Amino acid sequence: MNEVRQRFSMDKDWLFHLGEVDVPVKKSHNSIYGRAKAGGAIGPAGMEWNDSTWQTVQLPHDWSYQQPFDRENGVPNFGFKPRGMGWYRKKFRLAAEEQGKQLILEFDGIATEASIYLNGSLLERNFSAYTSFTIDISDRAYYGDRPNVLAIRVDATEAEGWWYEGAGIYRHVWLTTKLPLHIAERGVWVRPEKINQILWQTHIETVVGNELEHDVHYTLTTYIQNAKNEVVQKARTESICAAGSKNTVVQKLNVTNPALWDIDAPHLYQVHSVLTMEGQLYDTEMTSFGYRTIRICPDEGFFLNEQPLKLKGTCNHQDHAGVGVALPDGLQEYRIRRLKDMGSNAYRAAHHNPTPELLDICDRLGMLVMDENRNFESSREGLRQLENMVTRDRNHPCVVFYSLFNEEPHQGTPIGRRIVNRMMRTVKRLDPTRPVLGALNGGVMEDEGTADILEITGFNYMHTSYDKFKAKHPAQPIIGSETVSAFSTRGNYTNDSIKQVFDSYDQEKAPWGATVREAWQAVATRNFVMGTFVWTGFDYRGEPTPYEWPSINTHFGIMDTCGFPKDAYYLYQAYWLDEPVLHMLPHWNWQGREGQPIKVMTHTNCEEVSLYVNGQFISRECVDVYKQLEWEIPYEPGIVRMEGYNNGRLVKVTEVATTGETASLRLELQKPYLYGDGKDAIAVNLYAIDAQQRFVPTDSRFVTFTLSGSGKILGVGNGDPNCHEADAAQARSLFAGCCQLIVQSVPGSDPIVLVAEAAGLAPMTWVIPVKETAEPPYIPSVKETYVNDWHVTQEPYGERPDPLMVMDPTDMNTWEKVDVSYGTLKMLRGIRGYVVFRSQLFLSDQDRTSSASLRFNEIQGDVEIYADTELLLVASLVEPTSVVIPLREVDLKGKNVITLSVLVHMTEQMSKPGISSSVCLLT
Ligand code: GAL
Repeated sequence: MNEVRQRFSMDKDWLFHLGEVDVPVKKSHNSIYGRAKAGGAIGPAGMEWNDSTWQTVQLPHDWSYQQPFDRENGVPNFGFKPRGMGWYRKKFRLAAEEQGKQLILEFDGIATEASIYLNGSLLERNFSAYTSFTIDISDRAYYGDRPNVLAIRVDATEAEGWWYEGAGIYRHVWLTTKLPLHIAERGVWVRPEKINQILWQTHIETVVGNELEHDVHYTLTTYIQNAKNEVVQKARTESICAAGSKNTVVQKLNVTNPALWDIDAPHLYQVHSVLTMEGQLYDTEMTSFGYRTIRICPDEGFFLNEQPLKLKGTCNHQDHAGVGVALPDGLQEYRIRRLKDMGSNAYRAAHHNPTPELLDICDRLGMLVMDENRNFESSREGLRQLENMVTRDRNHPCVVFYSLFNEEPHQGTPIGRRIVNRMMRTVKRLDPTRPVLGALNGGVMEDEGTADILEITGFNYMHTSYDKFKAKHPAQPIIGSETVSAFSTRGNYTNDSIKQVFDSYDQEKAPWGATVREAWQAVATRNFVMGTFVWTGFDYRGEPTPYEWPSINTHFGIMDTCGFPKDAYYLYQAYWLDEPVLHMLPHWNWQGREGQPIKVMTHTNCEEVSLYVNGQFISRECVDVYKQLEWEIPYEPGIVRMEGYNNGRLVKVTEVATTGETASLRLELQKPYLYGDGKDAIAVNLYAIDAQQRFVPTDSRFVTFTLSGSGKILGVGNGDPNCHEADAAQARSLFAGCCQLIVQSVPGSDPIVLVAEAAGLAPMTWVIPVKETAEPPYIPSVKETYVNDWHVTQEPYGERPDPLMVMDPTDMNTWEKVDVSYGTLKMLRGIRGYVVFRSQLFLSDQDRTSSASLRFNEIQGDVEIYADTELLLVASLVEPTSVVIPLREVDLKGKNVITLSVLVHMTEQMSKPGISSSVCLLT
């Protein structure tokens, strides 16, 4: 393969410092002068900062959930976890061959405000945790020996939301290298348009960028490929692009009878763009897309591929048990699959853009997405964030709506109307194909507000107003953008305000909310309501409602924070799946409550259900799906059996038995193996089971884990909204019989051996197979600290000068700033005389007291090397030589900042006089 374009992961081996770093203020002229220059950033933003004591972390990384819960200072909305400040640094080399290429750093997301420095220069500031952004680093990068220092200051003290947002570089980072003539970032936009029953026109806009010094005449060939990589259509366009500019090629490719993208069969195609000039390949890019139509109708709702489709959606934040918001892609997939298995067909990324990998997964699995904007503003920054969402996401067939806002105070006012107008115009300019909505929790009846100018009016709750609004605005499409907000605690069947838990009988709800049954009935019985987005698919950290401490997450989820289904999950299955569903609640382990009445309930779509207790027939009832059936049964251990009938025929049987004591744990893997690429991750679910392999729903014992082989435990969880055990840990108690480990592969293929130990149970061992898989290309980190900030005396001295001469802080001209990593300084060649090189060495306490050493990779001449006033080395280096000097504590005199002075005497014959390569600190 021709490597004209490469994409590397930048996730590996960052150094992390929690909190702000105190940088001593220097008031001298030279320090003020120096920091005002390109590359002059000081402290951890600068190149020379000693980060040897920082912690090594892998991305995605969220520091917030890893801290202890803090009742005193913590905010309930953020799950009582501290946020604050953090610094990240990654030092990496770029091969000399990369010079002249275009290098693009791509951040999927950083929470919350980020300042990004490369080699001491501030290159970008980003103000939202939810926007992805790119930085062209081609000009500022070092190539060859000298490492680059990427330093990121993350300020997560301010919040953008009212839920757990995490903190840090919690999504992936990438580096793409391309030739100077290339396809621009986000440069391919594919927009399929259905012309008639068989014919589709594929509009493809490709932006070509030319960073060469001259105009070019290039050829863009665009292929459309199906899932088998067969080319189904192609187009070739020649065009001219002026030096230093961009231009856009528009191609329209007709495709007949493509396999459609649908929720059940999400067929994807790819646009393969090939850019050549004079027969030579310059760039190539693959863009995934799908053929599908969407249409909204005020009376009939939503249509996918001209078929009416009720949207059975959930709203979701992005955190998961064990990992905070730093989800590996495998876990994103686990969550989407869980939702699909429930019968859900739509996902609302509440209340912000999701990570792009989530959209790839939704494309692949057939899950529709409401893509939401975070900040409701038509300011320049507000529109920038909005544009960013649209240009990033518009190729994804899964994305069917753009949501501009959620519950904004201006939703019913003229200000809101003006903002919406401008934002809608911005969206439409970039993507006219998807309807735009807002999610309102009021103001829908106002004439001067936003409700009637949006393409869809989103109702958050307020389901009793659907008809009133429809009567006033018959032509306005409606969607239940947020519904339900019911409370339940997994595996729990009694409300207890002391324990802060809810029952699971679908009767507890927020004052503004509705039960599952009420909310679904309101939507299902109205064709004009396009669908529902339930608050929420998964419990999430933060916003504990209605109880605060010790509750640290919500009770809203249909599933808990691990994705373990609560009973409501089966009620949705009953509503949303076509097959017969018959779920019974509660469990039947009520030892000690013999003879007392227990409420038994169905979650079913069967027409009739019969109930038996220990073989004894109780009754057969017709089911109203919006009510479900309930019985009060005096408890006796044994088996409760339900039989479900449709058209009088038995279609489903469910039995719930009183179980014995826990005998062991059952392991359930999200998929049978892990890829050993160091990135793949899976949810490993553990269930307490009795000697007859039956789930024991009441066990809460503590389990500890050890794991060996090509894997590691990223985190653990159990879904308990009141549990304060650590997530970044190797042990967890069961909650209502379950707990979860998030296991990630480390590069390799040794099977993972997981051992679990718990009081009263024999140790259990499982093997998780690992499939040997190459690591995706990545940029490794450089460990050493480099000393590259050198000055040299400008004019060679004929006589030996004082190597320790004072550098006058106001004199910016006697000493010249030089970069020694590019090879010997030309100004020193062919000269006889003396020069002094000067730099500073920043040492940690550890570097100072351990056996650190200094390595000059290449130095030539008669040299004297000083640490402050201590002479470290005198040598006559006739050839360019690599020199390693141990740093002894006694020479450093307890100091952490040392001035390095290097006196060099050179002669005309020397090939590389002076310091001609990087200098590094080895620890
Ligand atoms: C809504 C809001 C959500 C969440 C929910 C809880 O008003 O949009 O973000 O707070 O209430 O019921």
